[in-house]
Amino acid sequence: MMKTSAEIRKAFLDFFASKQHQIVSSSSLVPGNDATLLFTNAGMVQFKDAFLGAEKRSYTRATSSQRCVRAGGKHNDLENVGYTARHHTFFEMLGNFSFGDYFKEDAIGYAWNFLTEVLMLPKEKLLVTIYETDDEAFDIWSKKIGIPAEKIIRIGDKTAGKKYESDNFWSMGDTGPCGPCSEIFYDHGEHIWGGPPGSPEEDGDRFIEIWNLVFMQFNRHEDGTMEPLPKPAVDTGMGLERISAIMQNVHSNYEIDIFQGLISDTAALLSCDDLENKSLRVIADHIRSCSFLIADGVMPSNEGRGYVLRRIIRRAIRHGHKLNAKGHFFHKLVASLAQQMGEAYPELVEQQAVIEKILRIEEEQFGRTLDRGMLLLEDILSNLQGDTINGDDVFKLYDTYGFPADLTADIARERQLKIDQNGFDVAMGLQRERAQQASQFGTDYNEKLKSDKHTSFKGYTNNSFSATVVELFNSTGSVNELQEGEQGVVVLDNTPFYAESGGQVGDSGVIVTDAGVFEVQDTTKVGNAFAHKGIAKAKIQLNARVKAEIDIERRASIVKNHTATHILHAALRKVLGEHVTQKGSLVEAEKFRFDFSHFEALTANELIEVERLVNAEIRKNHQRDTQLMQIDEAKEKGAMALFGEKYDDEVRVVTLGDFSVELCGGVHVDRTGDIGLVKIISESGIAAGVRRIEAVSGEAALAFIDAQAAKLSTIASMVKSDVASSVEKVEQVLSRTKQLEKEIAQLKQQLAAQAGSDLVSQAIEINGTKVLIAELDGVASKDLRGMVDDLKVKIGSGIIALSTAHEGKVGLIAGVTKDLTDKVKAGELVNLIAQQVGGKGGGRPDMAQAGGSQPENIPAAMASVKPWLESKL
Ligand code: ALA
Repeated sequence: MMKTSAEIRKAFLDFFASKQHQIVSSSSLVPGNDATLLFTNAGMVQFKDAFLGAEKRSYTRATSSQRCVRAGGKHNDLENVGYTARHHTFFEMLGNFSFGDYFKEDAIGYAWNFLTEVLMLPKEKLLVTIYETDDEAFDIWSKKIGIPAEKIIRIGDKTAGKKYESDNFWSMGDTGPCGPCSEIFYDHGEHIWGGPPGSPEEDGDRFIEIWNLVFMQFNRHEDGTMEPLPKPAVDTGMGLERISAIMQNVHSNYEIDIFQGLISDTAALLSCDDLENKSLRVIADHIRSCSFLIADGVMPSNEGRGYVLRRIIRRAIRHGHKLNAKGHFFHKLVASLAQQMGEAYPELVEQQAVIEKILRIEEEQFGRTLDRGMLLLEDILSNLQGDTINGDDVFKLYDTYGFPADLTADIARERQLKIDQNGFDVAMGLQRERAQQASQFGTDYNEKLKSDKHTSFKGYTNNSFSATVVELFNSTGSVNELQEGEQGVVVLDNTPFYAESGGQVGDSGVIVTDAGVFEVQDTTKVGNAFAHKGIAKAKIQLNARVKAEIDIERRASIVKNHTATHILHAALRKVLGEHVTQKGSLVEAEKFRFDFSHFEALTANELIEVERLVNAEIRKNHQRDTQLMQIDEAKEKGAMALFGEKYDDEVRVVTLGDFSVELCGGVHVDRTGDIGLVKIISESGIAAGVRRIEAVSGEAALAFIDAQAAKLSTIASMVKSDVASSVEKVEQVLSRTKQLEKEIAQLKQQLAAQAGSDLVSQAIEINGTKVLIAELDGVASKDLRGMVDDLKVKIGSGIIALSTAHEGKVGLIAGVTKDLTDKVKAGELVNLIAQQVGGKGGGRPDMAQAGGSQPENIPAAMASVKPWLESKL
């Protein structure tokens, strides 16, 4: 009987391949071009457009083993991980898919076949659920498969009136393909507590869902409408870890082969003997999601995907601390993971060093966050009245210091305190509302834009093109005409306008009609249609024949910047190394921006070298070559595919001589010499391990140099010099300033000394002892010490108390000559004054200093010195 996870994975794919399914490799955890989804959370994600009918593939049946992350977003298991036998942030989903090919009957038949004839699971151990009203599925299970009726459980909607909110209705996210489903359960046996699905005991561990068969029928829209799919389809998912647990006769997923090695390595690293410890499970789970996410290009950050990754890393670190981890441990587990899973996922091995480095940086950073947060928390705790830390404080710790609420609660618990969870939730809710308001700001008719039209792009070769208006929108939705002066969107059948994508901004220009023009401010994609957004300067109607003309000058600047981005990308890899990969880019008319993975700031020399190389390649005047080819062929040519981008089977490859090959749909210059010149204007860090370069090209590069030169001339004339000798001149000015500063310091010292001699004359006598009490003004606290030493020498024997108000704060000092310290202690004296001006101090019996925050109370405080001394002397 097959046992290992690897064997099960292979058996599954082989089985469906034998049923004419195309084996498709796992796609990235970052869904290609799909902003509706945080992470790939199911096998069907890469086929979303095939289900919706928007994309045709060369096959109608597919099978895959897909890496998935469920943390954040609709399917979020993060908080459960480690505490149940089968929740994970990362798991592999085995699936088979039909795009308008077979439907319920075959889907059910194949699943049953695989489980009972390939894996040889006993039939009596299996039971199934169906969506309440799905009589068709019931009949198939009962009549075709022969499952007794009592083992086919109907599951309805969770809340009456909320249709399709059910465990047996599956949706990818808030929008997208969805449909009723039928789940297959395995009965682990009476010795484990739990009841069948739908029963009050269903949360027990006895009956475990192993396979979900989704009968995709609808596309759910944002407003909740359910649009039937062009053809009903099938999407199934079986967790590899769960089925492995059953095949390996263990009850918990954490006991299967893949996890055992990880858990024992973690235990060894943290010197933990208890292999059942929940924290070990959490860490073993999290190292998988974190490593795979980083391998797929996600970087820890404070928003979106990067933020979820950061939370998972921090959760793992916290659990390490629970096990008394010493120092940074998490990144050390990447090696163990690469060993366990490197064969199925070679990218883990290739990127091991990078993943380790990013995790380590994150561990160090979190360590600092904890240290800073702890200071504030200690402060809050020392002022705490009662036994509850208030919600606003918990929120502030979280919001400003990234200090998780559960951590605050843990620390509170250790000191027999609690946190005001309600108050924290309220503060969080308010913040969420603010964030929502902020994100709603500026949304216009974008949401209402839905189009099933197809626009053909002619802009690789044409700057203007004759076309027909096939759709129009204003702020209310689709319309037949736009009036003069009205804002709106024009969709054409053909267009030379590039629609924003791959980092390149959309074109602007005009659409000329018989009546006048529609001014295009921006162009974006809506499905397969190009939305020309702008303002109608004259009435424009549906079906009108028009001429679309792009703003040629703006486009020329954009394409220069786009080609320059490719050259920069290749140059960075040459100068810094092959670990540099693109993390994002923005190509505008004015400038371009390129984000890439690299661990530290570029040195001035590296920047110069990169810029030199870029310009040298520009001068080589490479001919730009563009070709359409199969993706495999492109990869063979060494084409760099980009992060988060989804590619069709046929791709466009842009080549610049022997220097750069990239997959790219954008528009480029004909020869690199057209770019003229590139100047880098800034380099900065935007997240751990991600750098950003901003640069300009062509005219803009010249303008940048001119502006720098103008600034230099201004500086030269300010220091009364010319550009050629300005550096020397500025050096002179700076050294003169330094010298003057020194002189001022000396003068101040002399003044203070003089003030000291004047002070001696103010001394009084109390019961035969010389006492000097003086209020100074504007003397820095640090100068008081020297003054007192001086005064002591001058009066020989006596007591001195000085105060100063300086920059809004109080400085105090007390000096007592040695012969008098048994009567008066300087520390007591200074404290007497300090406590009246909001401060506290201390020091030796002969010399003590203090600060304070209430200068207004100095006179009263100093007045209290004389009576106090009278009682002591
Ligand atoms: N997409 C389905 C699921 O994730 C199969 O359960």
